[in-house]
Amino acid sequence: MPSPRRAAAPWRCRTAIGWMPAEEATVEGRVITVFAAKGGCGKTTVATNLAVALAAGGTRSVCLVDLDMSFGDVAIAMQLFPTRSIADAVAMRDKLDEAGVRSLLTPHSPGLDTLLAPLEPGDAEKIPTAVVSEVLSVLRRSYDFVVVDTPPDFKDWVLAALDLSDVYVLLATLDVPALKNLRLTLDMLDLLGYPRESWQIVLNRSDSKVGLHLADVEKTLKVPIAAQIPSSRAVSMSINRACRSYWSSRTTRSVLRSGPSQSNGSRAASPRAPPRRQARAPAQRPPHAGASP
Ligand SMILES: Nc1ncnc2c1ncn2[C@@H]1O[C@H](COP(=O)(O)OP(=O)(O)OP(=O)(O)O)[C@@H](O)[C@H]1O
Ligand SMILES: [Mg+2]
Repeated sequence: MPSPRRAAAPWRCRTAIGWMPAEEATVEGRVITVFAAKGGCGKTTVATNLAVALAAGGTRSVCLVDLDMSFGDVAIAMQLFPTRSIADAVAMRDKLDEAGVRSLLTPHSPGLDTLLAPLEPGDAEKIPTAVVSEVLSVLRRSYDFVVVDTPPDFKDWVLAALDLSDVYVLLATLDVPALKNLRLTLDMLDLLGYPRESWQIVLNRSDSKVGLHLADVEKTLKVPIAAQIPSSRAVSMSINRACRSYWSSRTTRSVLRSGPSQSNGSRAASPRAPPRRQARAPAQRPPHAGASP
């Protein structure tokens, strides 16, 4: 875990995409939630690789959070053996601070820590949504980036993470059910008032020869595809080698090029941008929430 709130050089700060004036940076880190409403689209693959790429060998501080509470795969994907998990945050409810959250983390590599899913699937239901919000709020004060892996469902934890997110990485693959679910997801994000400039649509396995093409996808979704990831053995190998990132810096930059606070990614000198959500009554669930495929 990095030291709390590093003081930035007064004139410029190191960011995810280069150097920028300190006055353009924000105090808090950026929360990036990776989501797809259909299972197996590659959420864990993208979240783990993105986290490794962002940490860049310790250049930046990143915490990867596994909110797939019942069937989280981050630990296995990154070959980690946790003794504590997000379930242990419940006992510290309402008084979580950086030291408390730090005690729950499992380190992965320089710059990259993880907060893993409960060790017992049954513990998932015991975790109140408010605890998830509390944990994420503490983490984003401590890290340059908080990357959130999610289950394929609009669980309340997912909605809590979306609420706190600066960037929404939304995945689809080249099949009609995945695209249908992504379309529903985009409608929901619109309904909730999450700004479109924060959406990053990523097409995974984009080279699959299944009769659907990028142009069809963009036409169906009515939004541009920010990044494409081909099917590759390197992807599975990145998992088998404890997640050595296969992401190119171009893909990482593409994911970071969104969000209201404009891609700075470092916590530094000036206050955070206003909340991302544009308008929504608190705790209102969307019509499709819970309707997982
Ligand atoms: N671009 C790719 N090329 C090759 N294999 C991939 C690619 N993306 C994902 N995979 C593989 O597909 C499988 C499913 O990926 P992953 O576990 O990341 O999906 P998920 O969306 O997290 O699934 P779940 O909804 O079950 O959590 C994994 O075995 C992963 O290694
Ligand atoms: Mg997963």
